Amino acid sequence: MKLVQSVSDVREEVAQARRAAKRIGLVPTMGFLHEGHLSLVDRCSQLTDFIVLSIYVNPLQFGPSEDFERYPRALERDLALAQGRGVHLVFAPSDREMYPRQQVVSVTPTRLADRLCGLTRPGHFEGVLTVVSKLLGIVQPDVAVFGQKDFQQAVLIEKMVEDLQIPAQIEVAFTVRDPDGLAMSSRNEYLTVDERERATRISRALAEAVASFRSGRRSAEALKDRIRRRLEAGGGVDVEYVEIVRADDLEPVGEAGDDAVVAVAARVGATRLIDNVKLAQPDPGIERLL
Ligand code: PAJ
Repeated sequence: MKLVQSVSDVREEVAQARRAAKRIGLVPTMGFLHEGHLSLVDRCSQLTDFIVLSIYVNPLQFGPSEDFERYPRALERDLALAQGRGVHLVFAPSDREMYPRQQVVSVTPTRLADRLCGLTRPGHFEGVLTVVSKLLGIVQPDVAVFGQKDFQQAVLIEKMVEDLQIPAQIEVAFTVRDPDGLAMSSRNEYLTVDERERATRISRALAEAVASFRSGRRSAEALKDRIRRRLEAGGGVDVEYVEIVRADDLEPVGEAGDDAVVAVAARVGATRLIDNVKLAQPDPGIERLL
């Protein structure tokens, strides 16, 4: 495994792999790797034979009062984990390398960023799409893999690639969870022991929604009410939103169909957590809680 920090080095390494007729895969991350990230690497290895993992805490996607400064970073540990999983190239650029000057052009979603996480994180998805389009342009992968955990992000990236006709296949992989159901996230690091315990209410509420859906409940209002009550019972979990939307266009639904996704954002202490589940196709981690 090689570590490179410049765009020109990435291009050179990727060109060499291409000359050897390798299919190129990209897994973009902000580092502080966990099993969720590594599962994307595993998925990528099934589809490609030269895996580029990017590690970059992208300042553009953090709001002024968000956690950019304190976002956890551990490059040495990340490199060991990446190597153990068969990554071929790690791209860990500096801010100067990614943004040599203030961008004149950025990628702004015209729709779908006005809801869910977009409501409380203005500019966030513009920052995400801009950096992801840059990474796709730098690496030019055949396949790029993202997590369902960040559901709205994955949908917006799929739409961007379609609308801008970027020639990369986008794969979305299941959310990986800790045994107690908590969706893995670099931000779980912020949680105290008590907060972590409270945070498990989120995945349990989603699992209950799946159970209700299976027993025939379809009213989005009733499902959302139950989830919200479950999250709020006992206090210490501040719900930001509970929504039920269609998977492909994030439109809210009145009746949950087979394409419905329940998406939740909540604060536990100072930490903002998000999670989601497809009601008709829950991830294995939710299935285990049922
Ligand atoms: P980050 O939060 O580091 O996540 C990197 C990738 O890992 C994303 O595609 C995310 O959805 C996925 N991921 C995170 N937790 C996961 C879990 N528990 N199971 C499966 N996949 C998981 O998302 C970002 O970084 C950034 O916005 C990025 C796309 C890198 C652009 O800066």
